[in-house]
Amino acid sequence: MSIAEKFATMEYGPAPEDPKEAAAWLDRHGRRFGHFINGAWQKPSADGYFDTFDPSNGERLASVAQGSPEDVDAAVKAARTASPQWQALTPHARARYLYAIARQVQKHSRLFAVLETMDNGKPIRESRDIDIPLVARHFYHHAGWAQLLEQEFPEYVACGVVGQIIPWNFPLLMLAWKIAPALATGNTVVLKPAEFTPLTALLFAEICQEVALPAGVVNIVTGDGSTGEALVKHPNVDKIAFTGSTEVGRAIRAATATSHKRLSLELGGKSPFIVFEDADLDSTVEGLVDGIWFNQGQVCCAGSRLLVQESVAETLIAKVRERMSSLRIGPPLDKAIDIGPIVARIQLDRIRRLVDQGVAEGATCWQPQVALPSSGFYYPPTLLSNVHPTSIVAQQEIFGPVLATMTFRTPREAVELANNTVYGLAACVWSESINVALHAAAQLKAGVVWVNCTNLFDASCGFGGYRESGYGREGGREGLIEYLEPKWFKSAPGLPTAKAPEGAGSEKLAESSVPAIDRTVKLYIGGKQARPDSGYSMEVRGPDGRLLGEAPLGNRKDIRNAVEAARKAESWAKSTAHNRAQVLYYSAENLAQRRDEIARRLAAVVGEKQAAAEVDLGIERIFSYAAWADKFDGAVHNPPFRNIAIAMHEAIGTVGIICPAEAPLLGFVSLVMPVLAVGNTVIAVPSEKYPLITGNLYQLFDTSDLPGGAVNIVTGYASQLLKTLGEHDDVDAIWCFGDESQAAAAKSASIGNLKQVFTNEGRAIDWFNPKLAEGRWFLEHATQVKNIWVPYGE
Ligand code: NAI
Repeated sequence: MSIAEKFATMEYGPAPEDPKEAAAWLDRHGRRFGHFINGAWQKPSADGYFDTFDPSNGERLASVAQGSPEDVDAAVKAARTASPQWQALTPHARARYLYAIARQVQKHSRLFAVLETMDNGKPIRESRDIDIPLVARHFYHHAGWAQLLEQEFPEYVACGVVGQIIPWNFPLLMLAWKIAPALATGNTVVLKPAEFTPLTALLFAEICQEVALPAGVVNIVTGDGSTGEALVKHPNVDKIAFTGSTEVGRAIRAATATSHKRLSLELGGKSPFIVFEDADLDSTVEGLVDGIWFNQGQVCCAGSRLLVQESVAETLIAKVRERMSSLRIGPPLDKAIDIGPIVARIQLDRIRRLVDQGVAEGATCWQPQVALPSSGFYYPPTLLSNVHPTSIVAQQEIFGPVLATMTFRTPREAVELANNTVYGLAACVWSESINVALHAAAQLKAGVVWVNCTNLFDASCGFGGYRESGYGREGGREGLIEYLEPKWFKSAPGLPTAKAPEGAGSEKLAESSVPAIDRTVKLYIGGKQARPDSGYSMEVRGPDGRLLGEAPLGNRKDIRNAVEAARKAESWAKSTAHNRAQVLYYSAENLAQRRDEIARRLAAVVGEKQAAAEVDLGIERIFSYAAWADKFDGAVHNPPFRNIAIAMHEAIGTVGIICPAEAPLLGFVSLVMPVLAVGNTVIAVPSEKYPLITGNLYQLFDTSDLPGGAVNIVTGYASQLLKTLGEHDDVDAIWCFGDESQAAAAKSASIGNLKQVFTNEGRAIDWFNPKLAEGRWFLEHATQVKNIWVPYGE
């Protein structure tokens, strides 16, 4: 027999990783675990224990505590008590703890990997070579951020006590993504692991003991969704960070709407895997294996929709089928296994149900002839073709090893198909042409785009979604911001608010007669003045009760028209940063020309001094954002692979803005200009106190070459208009700077399409202080980061 023949007939022998150490660790704990609270193990207070199983054979691994609200309360108290001292440590001291954790993870990496595979079912090759090294990398990287914190974020402080809830698909990795940035920024933590996979988090608790992390800095409470809910609702938690299903993400948004809790959500996805006809098809197939069959497809950013150019579809599908036939399915502790079991029966049933439904809707299902192990929750790699773009298997996250295939003809069609989803977590683009690939990458609505690669992650590169895939980023600088707040904002008083400072607006207004009383303005929609749908207007009176004029009473129809106009104003979104800067400078110039007239009118409401200050600082603020328009750049990361990751600051889309009442002109400018500067379009509801400012504003925009629809202004009662704006599915973000009840209303209204919400939490903002009321903090909320990974080398 020739060597080639022998090679072809060779079989894999079993190559199991030894579970002895992990079993010994479980035995040492009597296979029963309490919560880790205040640096020690604590028995559950009320609800007892539940079992966690090995999904490859259904055997019980251990019992863990079911966290009750009392347990959660004890953990939050411990975190709160530990918080001042932890925050008072020097950055270097915190850096040492994080570094020590990274070292310990490395030292125990084999035990972590085996335990992870036993509890979750992922192949040992993945837990050993991907999950655990990335965990260590995350702690190393964030040890560095802890060290640099004061230099890099001098004006920021920690949120305080952070509640973190994680899923079962990357149990320890998600823990690291949450805990490392939280600790680096000086927060203390209560973390709830997923009910299917709590064990590596409990082993991590021991690492915290080993490195003598101060008691209460990290607390781990196990349990199911009800434990998570108790954490979310706990009044003494300052921030919730969640990874999991979009459905639960929505519930968490609803549950936190009336609180001041910060929130970051990393939710589901239905990520496109786009293959152009000039792609290297063999590499593409290997990419696809990592894209959809990695971790049994239980990956939020899995490339679950294969979009392939028609001309190469047949060839590619043939290659994919051939490759699928050689994937090895079996016990995940075997080092030569590609696909392990699904995490739990309920998840397996869900995959089967969705695939059946897809087939009932017309999809063709193909699976290789592979024998599945007789016990355990296995599901074969699956290819669905003839999938209609509206089919459930093209729209819903299956979270299993199932690939839905569709074809396209042109790059434009590819992008349209790719973006035809409510999600926006990740995307892959395969093409040998850098122009084609990057052109597509720029148009994809996704937080991460991998060019000719897939499922690469690194601590230096932010990860997170657009649209209903959530908001906030994990990793990189933008990930840290999620755990920090500006110092001044944290201690800002509640409204009522800021007064113009002494000396502001000192240049006297030119003498002139008092303006005419009766002044009527209109709405400003699509670059035109418009009458309100209701036909009614609201009286605007000065503090002395004098009638100053009338403003239209906008209603839901007007808001809908304004949103439509904003969506159509594509030329603004596509314009160059230089061009946007010019338009902004020009509007500042025009405001300067009308300075006295505008200030005199405004003076009737806010007094002469504040009016002059609002106009003068308004001109300055517009200049500031004109300056920023072409300077708020992204970054280029160097992850430890042969890739660069280009982190782009992209506009969010259409932003609804409820402007503050107290500074009618300066408040408007302070919010609308940063949003515009980075290429968003706007629907603004101006100050209820003085909506007549609209008349001056549309004159300003009309004379400044701003394309129609880029800014739309609807006057009326803010609370009513806020509801329509907040609930509108074509609005991508809402900025609400009113009182506390309006902040809560904005958050509640945002749940439908999970729009991003930025509010003042009902606190007073000193609009007259440029150190607080302008700059990066606002620009960061006006943008989202897209990381485009580009490989280099042969
Ligand atoms: P899930 O969203 O229910 O669970 C994630 C975490 O949230 C777990 O720790 C769970 O205990 C907790 N949780 C559940 N309900 C909660 C509540 N009301 N308040 C606070 N915490 C709560 O996800 P599940 O049921 O495990 O999986 C269902 C589907 O979700 C999957 O089939 C998949 O499509 C998606 N999923 C997405 C993930 C992602 O990374 N984007 C991760 C896990 C699941």
